[in-house]
Amino acid sequence: AQGGYELWLNYRKTENPETLEHYRTHLLSVVMDENSETVDAIREELSTGLGLMLDSTVSFISEIPEKNSLVIRKTENLPSGLRNTLKKDIATIENDGFLIRASGNTVIITARKDVGLLYGTFRLLHHLQQGLPLRNLRILDIPKTDIRVLNHWDNLDRTVERGYAGASIWKWHRLPGYIDPRYKDYARANASVGINGTVLTNVNASALVLTPAYIEKVAALAEVFRPYGIKVYLTARFSAPMEIGGLQTADPLDPGVRQWWRDKVDEIYKTIPDFGGFLVKANSEGQPGPQNYGRSHVDGANMMAEAMAPHGGIVMWRAFVYSEHDTTDRAKQAYNEFVPLDGKFMENVLVQVKNGAIDFQPREPFHPMFGAMPHTPLMMEFQMTQEYLGFSTHLVFLPKLYEEVLQSDTYRHGKGSLVARVVDGTLDNKKISGMAGVANIGSDINWTGHPFAQANWYGFGRLAWDPYLSASQIADEWLRLTFTNDNNFIKPVKNIMLESHETVVDYMTPLGLHHIMDTGHHYGPGPWVGNLSRPEWNPVYYHKADTAGIGFDRTPSGSNATAQYAGEVAATFNNVKTCPEKFLLWFHHLPWDYKLQSGNTLWDGLGIRYQEGVNRVREAQKTWAVMEPYVNKQQFEEVRMLLGIQHEEAQWWRDACMLYFQTFSKQPFPEEMETPL
Ligand code: GCU
Repeated sequence: AQGGYELWLNYRKTENPETLEHYRTHLLSVVMDENSETVDAIREELSTGLGLMLDSTVSFISEIPEKNSLVIRKTENLPSGLRNTLKKDIATIENDGFLIRASGNTVIITARKDVGLLYGTFRLLHHLQQGLPLRNLRILDIPKTDIRVLNHWDNLDRTVERGYAGASIWKWHRLPGYIDPRYKDYARANASVGINGTVLTNVNASALVLTPAYIEKVAALAEVFRPYGIKVYLTARFSAPMEIGGLQTADPLDPGVRQWWRDKVDEIYKTIPDFGGFLVKANSEGQPGPQNYGRSHVDGANMMAEAMAPHGGIVMWRAFVYSEHDTTDRAKQAYNEFVPLDGKFMENVLVQVKNGAIDFQPREPFHPMFGAMPHTPLMMEFQMTQEYLGFSTHLVFLPKLYEEVLQSDTYRHGKGSLVARVVDGTLDNKKISGMAGVANIGSDINWTGHPFAQANWYGFGRLAWDPYLSASQIADEWLRLTFTNDNNFIKPVKNIMLESHETVVDYMTPLGLHHIMDTGHHYGPGPWVGNLSRPEWNPVYYHKADTAGIGFDRTPSGSNATAQYAGEVAATFNNVKTCPEKFLLWFHHLPWDYKLQSGNTLWDGLGIRYQEGVNRVREAQKTWAVMEPYVNKQQFEEVRMLLGIQHEEAQWWRDACMLYFQTFSKQPFPEEMETPL
């Protein structure tokens, strides 16, 4: 527990004596008589979990006894009496879903598949971790998306692109012979929140991972993950046929190239029969792709999808594309390239779209592609690793950001056409759906660097399973599972978490500002002229500050990026009076003395926002300072010190941005703002 290694699977002994007795009475005899690797994993988790929480030994039996018991069986194997009692609920369990029911003297976990039993088991354990009663318990939960995957941006040399929690957890040099115990704990953590896949390698891919020596290593990982319902996926470098196949071209319409991919995919499936598929970054930021040969994304994706189809594999083709040749507005490029291709991708292709049209900024309006491709499954890509949000040094609870995006209304089929409905496929009746999260995991003892960054992994998993969950519920669950059920801790600390996203937006990029981090590493402020090698790598491209004002005009008088949204949404954003202030400078270039809703000028309002961000970090520090009794010493100190850095850097952001923007506004700072340090 000291280092936070257990994550939210921290099975503390149940504190309340009555609750403890209640749990012991009902749960210490477990009826499990099915046989599979997954069932073995369930047994092991229960031995540990119940063992620790109830401070007792669990006995596993194969017949349902007269006395109280916990029954874990697939629906088809329930005794007919029980099946009858639960008939209505059972009829609605689908796919990987599960039912937990207290009925008579039994608590039942049932599902169609073994993996559903596993998910149900974890959910019951989480229920107990929160000290909740078993009486009348009824949890029926079915995942709303099919593909729930982590994207590791991990390189084969164990560096992690945009990774801030140590080296990659994949010890390629020791695989397949050496299986790090972490692999299993990783699988447990993922399965406990319903994640069912992992892309092991960086989107900026090395072709090497597709060579036989690496396929064997990947197979060894797949074996550890299999009992936990987790499939492995790899990133496929488009030029691999040339780099490792000795071909002269990677042209997707070349028969030799197509054959090479078919053979390669067959070879992978021979070693990993349940391989998930490929994730591809093509023709983006210098990566090779079909456009190198004058072909389209469809040509490239379908070539790979055709190779995958006989095996049931999928292709996740990324829409994160932009090129230096289109200099008007980077935000428009993905939509322009992909929307005309709607309906042309094979059925096993999903197009994976980042939550916003630029790049994982502290805040972005939802990507206009959501809802705009009714014939193509679109996967959401969120980022857990905090590339633009203070790395794993700043405390930011990202489910707040995810929730804001998922709850945005695309208006593609009128009001209520939420992004969440695009992601779960219900808006246009998609056959397949999914959500991807760029992992924040590394070999740090606590996995994620910042102790609170674990909540972003947890929350991503919960939202991938159910994109309609609230960030507040997720924060509550995570705190209880990870630390304590004491409300004197939960209430104030949950508040820190729920405010943390707005806080970081305020001290980094308030009122719709974006991409003003220092170029390259993206840590800390750098709104001034930066990287000149490409215009859209230069922060001034995004804020466009001048003596007249600040902001990026994306309305019809500017880049007209708003035209990519449904009419209602475009109209709201276009009109400076209806555009939400949080997106003001994303869509409008406004004079420094423009009046905000508060009555302040834009200039004063900016300064006040920056200051408020700083102030809220201070409040968080104060709140945390009295939390020592509730967490262990080490974690208390870790968070305390990190908040100290965050406070200093929030001031740095405020001062750097306001001093720089002042060279254009030529106005004094607002009274509410502290004098720069
Ligand atoms: C960002 C990030 C890159 C990453 C890219 C991507 O631009 O800075 O490191 O490769 O996103 O998502 O492909």
